[in-house]
Amino acid sequence: MTIRHFLDLDALDAKTLRGILDAAHAMKKAGKRSPAKLVPKGIEGAVLAMVFEKPSTRTRLSFDVAMRQLGGQAIPLNHTDLQLGRGESIADTARVLSRYIDAIMIRAHSHETLMELARHATVPVINGLTDKSHPCQVMADLMTFEESKGSLKGRVAAWIGDGNNVAASWMHAAVRFGFTLRVATPAELRPEKSVIDWVRREKGDVMITDDPVKAVRGADCVVTDTWVSMGQTGAEHRKKILKPYAVDADLMAKAAKGAIFMHCLPAYRGHEVTADVIDGPSSVVFDEAENRLHVQKAILAWCLGSQ
Ligand code: CP
Ligand code: NVA
Repeated sequence: MTIRHFLDLDALDAKTLRGILDAAHAMKKAGKRSPAKLVPKGIEGAVLAMVFEKPSTRTRLSFDVAMRQLGGQAIPLNHTDLQLGRGESIADTARVLSRYIDAIMIRAHSHETLMELARHATVPVINGLTDKSHPCQVMADLMTFEESKGSLKGRVAAWIGDGNNVAASWMHAAVRFGFTLRVATPAELRPEKSVIDWVRREKGDVMITDDPVKAVRGADCVVTDTWVSMGQTGAEHRKKILKPYAVDADLMAKAAKGAIFMHCLPAYRGHEVTADVIDGPSSVVFDEAENRLHVQKAILAWCLGSQ
């Protein structure tokens, strides 16, 4: 049977992703007791290994609580506590973990680590963030967008700031869910060419610009993220060139009436976003953080549904 890895939004088809998002909405509606029809048989007693090469609050907690609410358990593993930290290969680690547990979530520095793990694991592998993408986060963002604005079709989202891992998953999402995305970054911090090329091949409605005002004009949703992602260097240079991309009340005023503000968190007030925006009435950042839990349950149910 095909193993249901959740590695990236471009690696899954639109129907599968829509199904996961619908399940996430249903999980939220049902509260802690997930609807029986959404919980795959055998998940009771299932164990998720969570491997972390970088810090995490939301991903760690939401996956752990998600497993408990589904009737399973999760084991958090810091990579330095594993033999992985002493040079045991990813491939051998994948083979060994697969003998004990039912699924692996990994937060890795390098995307290649995630892919190598998935190549050698015989259980589902979930991307909990790499240097290239953050698909679980963007599924929660889309859920939050839908809660606030209804159907995504025809909606306009604006990504402002660094063309980073989260931006890449937003680009994948625009193609898979059929909405318009405008990405405004300084020229040197544009999303990776491979992601732009993929969007063009898929005929996605994604504009790449260096003008934040052009990006937010009429947008239903404005999204940003930290200017210095985990593992990145050159913080001072980044902060300097990203300064014109700070999301403040003036920029939000140029978006559509009633536009929402999103940020995956952790946020740095006074840098990528002003306090009056992130703590103001258009901000849905804590709904977005909560929705990580509901989306994680839906992703886990989908991954483990193949067992
Ligand atoms: N947004 C997000 O992934 O948060 P954590 O780094 O706290 O997991
Ligand atoms: N782009 C950020 C997201 C943190 C959740 C990072 O990679 O650090």
